[in-house]
Amino acid sequence: MRKTLRKSAPALAVLAAGFGLVAASPAFAAGDAKAGAQLFQQCAICHSNKKGVNMIGPSLFGVVGRKAGTEPGYSYDAAMKKFGKTWTEARLDKYITDPQKYIPGVKMIYPGMPSATDRANLIAYLATLK
Ligand code: HEC
Repeated sequence: MRKTLRKSAPALAVLAAGFGLVAASPAFAAGDAKAGAQLFQQCAICHSNKKGVNMIGPSLFGVVGRKAGTEPGYSYDAAMKKFGKTWTEARLDKYITDPQKYIPGVKMIYPGMPSATDRANLIAYLATLK
C-alpha cells in the first residue's frame, strides 16, 4: 500500500495543480464525471449504477459514503465484511488501484486502474450516483 501511495500522490498533486487547485484540496473534486462514466464500462460487467440492482458485484449506487459490505441483498465475502470501513473517495482510490492488494482475499476480480487521472474521473462519476 505504501508503494502505491508514493506512486499516486505526485500524480494527484499534478492533477490538482492542473485544475488550478491548491495541493491540499481533494484531488477527486477535479475529476471529470463524464469521462468517469465511460470508465465505468469496466465496472459495469459486474456492477449496476442503479439503486438496489445487485449483479456479480453489489450495486454501486450511493457507494461513496456507504459502509463497505452493507448493500442490502448482496452476499459479500469475508474479506469485504472484515474490511467494513466507510467508502470515502480516498479509500475508493486505493481500492480501485489494486483491489487485491488493498483488501487481500476480496472476490472482486479486477486487475486495477493504474492511472490516477482515470481513477479521479471514475470516482467523480461514482459520487454522482445518489
Ligand atoms: C469481474 C467482476 C467485477 C468487476 C469488473 C468490478 N467489480 Fe467491484 N466487486 C465485484 C465483486 C464480486 C464485489 C464484492 C466483493 C466482496 O464481497 O468482497 C465487488 C465489490 C466492489 C466494491 C465494494 C462495494 C461495497 O458495497 O462495499 C466497490 C466499491 C467496487 N466493487 C468497485 C468497483 C469499481 C469501481 C469497478 C470498476 C473499476 C469494479 N468494482 C469492477 C466484482 C467486480
